[in-house]
Amino acid sequence: MQRGWDVLDAGCGGGSFLPLICELIGSNGSVTALDLAPENIQRAENLTKDVPDRPKVRTRVGSILSLPFNHASFDCVWSANVMQYLTPAEFQQATDEIRRVLKPGGILAVKDFDSTLLQMLPMDHGVFTRLMTARLQTFRDKGVLGTDCGSSLPGLLRDAGMEIVWRKGWLVERWAPAGEHTRNYVRDLISYFTTAAPDYDLPESDQHYWKELAANPGSLLDQPDFCYREFLVLTVCRNAAI
Ligand SMILES: C[S@@+](CC[C@H](N)C(=O)[O-])C[C@H]1O[C@@H](n2cnc3c(N)ncnc32)[C@H](O)[C@@H]1O
Repeated sequence: MQRGWDVLDAGCGGGSFLPLICELIGSNGSVTALDLAPENIQRAENLTKDVPDRPKVRTRVGSILSLPFNHASFDCVWSANVMQYLTPAEFQQATDEIRRVLKPGGILAVKDFDSTLLQMLPMDHGVFTRLMTARLQTFRDKGVLGTDCGSSLPGLLRDAGMEIVWRKGWLVERWAPAGEHTRNYVRDLISYFTTAAPDYDLPESDQHYWKELAANPGSLLDQPDFCYREFLVLTVCRNAAI
């Protein structure tokens, strides 16, 4: 992202990337934050209030499938952790919409997880993998791209008509002693997994493990060799001049 750019954060959620986008584009730029959920838009507005050297910030409730913006409105569209919720047909629709609102030669940057590389250590590999495999199957059943889509996005975006400029994966790794932010994040993730586990067809011993972990997430977080790893993929594409 460059200073002075007009940027769309498509599926901005609570706006966690907005302060960084504001910093990168500076006071001559503009950022538009769009999300389906009105409560997220409210959070995003609050988050950008105190950004120094603040660019023009606009917020909008709306869908990435039907962007409420004119043709060629943006230099860059940023979309993080949103494509995983879309079916292949919706992904094509979203990409067509993004191409429409991007200026010719504009940049689309898409970030998403590849959850096949997620790890929480020290946890039995089989227990964790069985839950992850069952969870991925629920995405397949719903027909959405799912949380493992990050590594597939370069190919999917190319098939959808974008020119791939750059693609890169990052391993995010946090060892013990985990800071407060990591502890809260992993505790929320554990809570999400332990709540979901009873819905899956897992061995009884696995269910027992998840139940015990739900009651005491610290049993993992406080281990001297606790390690959390996740993998994310960034794909940067150019909108061919039309
Ligand atoms: C996991 S959150 C990611 C939020 C933010 N981009 C981030 O990475 O922190 C996914 C967001 O996508 C939004 N979302 C899902 N489908 C959408 C759609 N069709 N149009 C716009 N936003 C959508 C959800 O409301 C949610 O806020």
